[in-house]
Amino acid sequence: MNPSSKRRLFVTTALPYANGPFHIGHIMEYIQADTWVRFQRMGGNEVHFVGADDAHGAPIMIAAEKAGKTPQQFVADIAAGRQQYLDGFHIRFDNWHNTDGAENHQLAQDVYRALRKSGLIAMRDIEQFYDPVKGMFLPDRYIKGQCPKCGAADQYGDACEVCGAVYAPTELKNPYSTLSGATPELRKSEHYFFQLSSDRCAAFLREWTQASNAHGQPHLQTEVLNKVREWFAVDENGHGGLADWDISRDAPYFGIEIPDAPGKYFYVWLDAPVGYLASLKNHFDKGQAAAHWHAASRTTQDFDTFMADPQVEQVHFIGKDIVYFHTLFWPAMLKFSGRKTPSQINVHGFVTVGGEKMSKSRGTGISPLKYLDLGLNPEWLRYYLAAKLGSKVEDVDFTPEDFVARVNSDLIGKYVNIASRAAKFINQQFDGRLGYFGATQEMTDAAQALADDVAAAFEAREYARAMREIMAAADRINTAFDAAQPWLLAKDDARRAELQDTCSRALAGFWTLSVLLAPVLPELSARVARELFGLERDFVWADAAVLPQRVAPYQHLMQRIDPKQLDRLFEPDVPSAPPQNGNARILPEAKPAAAKATAPGDTITIDDFAKVDLRIARIVHAEAVEGSTKLLRLTLDVGETDADGKPRTRNVFSGIQSAYKPEDLIGRLTVMVANLAPRKMKFGLSEGMVLAASGADEKAQPGLYLLDPHPGAQPGMRVR
Ligand code: MSP
Ligand code: ZN
Repeated sequence: MNPSSKRRLFVTTALPYANGPFHIGHIMEYIQADTWVRFQRMGGNEVHFVGADDAHGAPIMIAAEKAGKTPQQFVADIAAGRQQYLDGFHIRFDNWHNTDGAENHQLAQDVYRALRKSGLIAMRDIEQFYDPVKGMFLPDRYIKGQCPKCGAADQYGDACEVCGAVYAPTELKNPYSTLSGATPELRKSEHYFFQLSSDRCAAFLREWTQASNAHGQPHLQTEVLNKVREWFAVDENGHGGLADWDISRDAPYFGIEIPDAPGKYFYVWLDAPVGYLASLKNHFDKGQAAAHWHAASRTTQDFDTFMADPQVEQVHFIGKDIVYFHTLFWPAMLKFSGRKTPSQINVHGFVTVGGEKMSKSRGTGISPLKYLDLGLNPEWLRYYLAAKLGSKVEDVDFTPEDFVARVNSDLIGKYVNIASRAAKFINQQFDGRLGYFGATQEMTDAAQALADDVAAAFEAREYARAMREIMAAADRINTAFDAAQPWLLAKDDARRAELQDTCSRALAGFWTLSVLLAPVLPELSARVARELFGLERDFVWADAAVLPQRVAPYQHLMQRIDPKQLDRLFEPDVPSAPPQNGNARILPEAKPAAAKATAPGDTITIDDFAKVDLRIARIVHAEAVEGSTKLLRLTLDVGETDADGKPRTRNVFSGIQSAYKPEDLIGRLTVMVANLAPRKMKFGLSEGMVLAASGADEKAQPGLYLLDPHPGAQPGMRVR
């Protein structure tokens, strides 16, 4: 690659909220971006790849308060846990910062001042619920009350989980603040708006969203652009179209102060994307000290100079849930504050597990740390995701059986196998020297053509296509190797040259595949380059069609997956109890005690009883279980929230079909054992048990009776 065509890239992934550890969705996004970045670097391009924690906002402020920490300390504690994930999955950011850093305060205020100067900031009074006890305005998610449609209690401010109605928080009957329990009051407050609805903004965005970058790639994927067009659309009643964006929040708020507006802070989504710039600036300012990761990023560049270079491409990798922010707000903010606008917004779908939406609660989803702790190879996951990722906004399903099959058949069966079979002969019979007899032009031409195709696929984020082409080539190499029957050649002294040629061609193929797989399998390919082929550096893309001359004795390169390892990944952990004051209590690992029969009259201690965590549960949903005449599937609200503070429910199978119609149970309260170890059943995971009374002899005394608490009990209350 000649130096003048060297691209200069600034690449980011979405900044994760600093209120919980990474989940598999984050890891997928980082692997997707890291793969692309590694591919760009292998081609000699200059890349600066940065991330950061998204520190601000009401949920983090409230979570910190509950944890008894300052928000700064809370965020720092989360940040301290990040590196083990990134190292563990070979995700190599040049810098990891956070949006509460000094650079971001400065940059966000600069952007705002510039927008104000452009005349795009307006002020308006809005009415909002206010918690008089907490002394703060309440985001919708902290308001609950009775559903205005069906009357169900404890429904959130935006929608009813029982009847599905959607409404404004002001429509709730008997609303209360989930923070203090107080009845919220409607209060007026002056808010700051970014005038996205202005003709200037709308005109710019219409143009920008459809345009392509200097490299000829469209800013947005087709399906993303289609979505954006819907957001632009105005119906015959004049409804729809872009609305102004409320960018201010009142104190108390964990965020960045709005200049010349005492007591007002930027809404978290204003300063979050600015955090991309802040992390890059922090990276450059730290200079060499922070850039020890990679020679290509060793830099003492100046942030302003770099961003002023029109050649610099700004590329964002994000998930499908945050498209509005990145395709409308962010480009408009940049444009009207006089900055470089993004070159590409690359949107991916969500990770699902076994076809189901991932839930951060135990039992479903894949814990990335558990994956690493179990000793599962991170490159298996990188390969599996690559084999499934395309450039479209499609969800990526992780299915255990499929994972095992893909990795074992492709990586081990097709790819690694080539080296283990061919290197043996070369070492035993030719002292490690490769030798090619006959023309090699055709072979190197084919390697180059393959490398070009695979490069185009990586460039376009068509990783699945890249992996398919690579594995098809591996098939061809194996077929040719088998057809030459090297095991027979090895027995015939007259055919030594043929044997050496056969094995050398297979190893040259293996070399090429290793170069092409390097963005996905960085560690393995580095070992292949250095240990197997004696190269004193990692592969670069230009190595793809080079013929290796020596091979070292084959060292074991990669293990097959043992499906049992994967079973352990999906075994539910011992559950934590529902939150008390918002803090999840982690129960110590239960020791498998020998089951002792308790005859009537036998006593237990109060401590024994205290081990059973009984909770009030609301049956938010109930349905028959297909294929079972006994079970009902219950969805229970036990007052729990997940890491993001979103409500989470439990799935429980209960053998009460004979006694209850599902629709009669919906909305009712009952009692559940909340710390029963989750149990995998034929129909899914059961995460607890509801309590019901029944006679000792079902025939003599039929009937099943669910427990029913007195009115006033709330989901999550402890029964003792
Ligand atoms: N803090 C905001 C982003 C601010 S960017 C200036 C945020 N954080 S997040 O932690 O909720 O999400 C971070 C990224 O993870 C987003 O791109 C999001 O789409 C992605 N994912 C969250 N769940 C996911 C899956 N289940 N699968 C794949 N990606 C997912 O949004
Ligand atoms: Zn309702």
